[in-house]
Amino acid sequence: MAQIAVIGAGYVGLTTAACFAHLGHDVVCADIDEKRVTSLSKGEVPIVEAGLDAMVQENLELGRLRFVLGAGNAAGDAEFAYLCVPTPQGEDGSADLSYIETAARQIGPVLPAEAVVINKSTVPVGSTRAVERVLGRDDVAVVSNPEFLREGSAVPDFLNPDRIVIGSDDQSAAVRVASLYIGVTAPIIVTDPPSAETIKYASNAFLATKISFVNAIAAVCEAVGADVKDVVLGMGYDKRIGHEFLKPGPGWGGSCFPKDSRALVHIAESAGYPFDLLKGVIAVNEEQFQRVVEKIRAMAGGTLEGTPIAVWGLTFKARTDDTRDSPAVRIATLLAEHGAVVKAYDPAAKGEFAGVEAAADPYSVCEGAEVLAVLTEWDEFRWLDFDKVAGLMATPRVVDGRNLLNRHALERRGFAYTGIGH
Ligand SMILES: NC(=O)c1ccc[n+]([C@@H]2O[C@H](COP(=O)([O-])OP(=O)(O)OC[C@H]3O[C@@H](n4cnc5c(N)ncnc54)[C@H](O)[C@@H]3O)[C@@H](O)[C@H]2O)c1
Repeated sequence: MAQIAVIGAGYVGLTTAACFAHLGHDVVCADIDEKRVTSLSKGEVPIVEAGLDAMVQENLELGRLRFVLGAGNAAGDAEFAYLCVPTPQGEDGSADLSYIETAARQIGPVLPAEAVVINKSTVPVGSTRAVERVLGRDDVAVVSNPEFLREGSAVPDFLNPDRIVIGSDDQSAAVRVASLYIGVTAPIIVTDPPSAETIKYASNAFLATKISFVNAIAAVCEAVGADVKDVVLGMGYDKRIGHEFLKPGPGWGGSCFPKDSRALVHIAESAGYPFDLLKGVIAVNEEQFQRVVEKIRAMAGGTLEGTPIAVWGLTFKARTDDTRDSPAVRIATLLAEHGAVVKAYDPAAKGEFAGVEAAADPYSVCEGAEVLAVLTEWDEFRWLDFDKVAGLMATPRVVDGRNLLNRHALERRGFAYTGIGH
């Protein structure tokens, strides 16, 4: 079993650290956030991710997982060092590599000879070489091993991935990285670093494209009187298309798709290819936020100024507490900018959002509301007492931004209902 350092204890780093420890490796996970390191060392997991708490606690007890402050303190004995730090969007849309470079600078001097540094962060083409330069170590190989986990199912995704991608010019380093996944059954694609880096961006951009496409089809359905729910069912049974990511909604968001799609446009343009298709995908997504706001405005009778609106859902999707670039937050704050009085409930979201009053339960936000907007697909929203909701609202009207609720059941209870594309 290997000695692994994981740099960054966020959604990807913490999952990587816990899962490698679960597979039997000795893992030291570093972060720069002292509070986070202290709570993790006590087994307290600061993010919502099914199964992660138990896995962290179990491996702390077994002594296979430790948390330390600072990347340099994790790397001294590491045979492998995984970089799982942020790569946010820079001002020009490109990926900001400063966290990666800082982490590489911190571990470079302390890594043992023959160590392998692995980029798990989503990084643009050329970053493997950039990390090599920053490390300045001829005896240390740098490998790309992008992560494809989904928040909300990060642990099962890590342990049961669709594929493992390894990008390296050094065959023996690639084989060593592949061997870390012993116990995981998945196809392993070994390629060169630029191809591995491109696979990650292309995959996210393709998924974003699928969602923008289906949101555009939903708009067509509304215009021609078709029902998008049946349309996507009919499309999805075609094996070449598939059902996944073919659900219309309020637009895509989260910590990856927005920055990664813009980064890919930037990568392509810097290399001389104007990626108009992907620019269109991004534009359709921006329009989708506005379309949902307009649906809510129309449902409210034409004006948002001074109108009480109840919002259910703030996270960018269900089963996570992550609100980074969340379409729900974007729409809720747009409603507030248009003068609406917005009260929101979300079972997991933390933090404050401009113009949005957060409440601790789904019913209180409905008191006196003119419209209820459902913006995240939390399953619990389906099973609430809609007679009670109708009684609390000024007028029982729902804009279902996720097509989550049962239109007919709501209409029977006297609600006016509109979804996306039907
Ligand atoms: N979140 C996802 O679903 C997901 C999926 C696949 C890939 N990715 C990619 O993985 C990377 C990390 O994403 P994330 O969501 O885990 O980010 P995150 O913000 O949740 O976590 C990053 C962590 O790194 C820490 N950090 C920053 N600099 C550090 C340093 N020098 N030393 C130690 N720790 C440091 C931060 O304090 C933070 O806790 C990004 O490139 C992202 O695009 C994310």
